[in-house]
Amino acid sequence: MPTYIVLLGPPGVGKGTQAGILAKRLNLPHISSGDIFRENIKKDTELGKLAQSYMSKGELVPDDLTIAMIRERFSRPDCERGAILDGFPRTPAQADNLENMLSGFGGKVNLVPFITAPSEVLMERLVGRWTCRAKGHIFHERFNPPKAPGVCDIEGSPLFQRDDDKAETVIHRIAVYQEQTMPLVQYYQNRGVLAEINGYAPIEDVTSQMVSALKK
Ligand code: AP5
Ligand code: MG
Repeated sequence: MPTYIVLLGPPGVGKGTQAGILAKRLNLPHISSGDIFRENIKKDTELGKLAQSYMSKGELVPDDLTIAMIRERFSRPDCERGAILDGFPRTPAQADNLENMLSGFGGKVNLVPFITAPSEVLMERLVGRWTCRAKGHIFHERFNPPKAPGVCDIEGSPLFQRDDDKAETVIHRIAVYQEQTMPLVQYYQNRGVLAEINGYAPIEDVTSQMVSALKK
């Protein structure tokens, strides 16, 4: 049976960091909707141009565009064994669509780690985040510093700061999350797959909590 894990939680809580670790451990693809949008922006595609106008303001990209993009990603065979989903779904309409897509593989969402941390922690994490230009590996200037400042340990590529990590955009992203994404907590609780994870802990502790939830 394939294993599909959906990481749920506010901006900056550590979804990308934990998805990267879990994907490696479980040998499953890491599917980050935000990363796919940023890749499209970098390549200046039509989707990238449309997505950027929402992302730069901290708004969600409309459901139809986001769902079509994820559908395309799920059409590739590596998703048949399962996947770690990071940043998708983010609205009930996206979650309903995901259920349909997975049923096509005879699968379903098996676990939803719901990661939380206080808002001031999220802000501190986002303003200090540095991301690898080549592959999106994630660092933090204090909590997870690269060996050489400004250079990715893994790819050797330059690190950059996301332009939606400015304080005022972060505040708006958190509000959008509370309004549009929080309903998914109840959605997945109703399906019996939600696991509450304390994200205000060292990276390895957060991973251990997720691994224990997976074993249950
Ligand atoms: P997206 O890229 O998904 O951003 P996000 O949800 O706002 O989350 P982040 O990537 O900012 O945080 P994260 O939880 O991944 O934390 P990270 O591991 O990096 O989306 C961006 C935009 O794209 C959206 O605003 C929207 O416009 C659009 N979009 C994307 N998906 C969409 C969808 N489905 N529908 C519509 N629109 C969509 O960690 C943060 C920092 O903290 C790092 O520096 C890290 O090193 C550090 N850190 C991590 N864990 C710890 C720890 N335990 N202790 C200390 N530091 C830590
Ligand atoms: Mg992320």
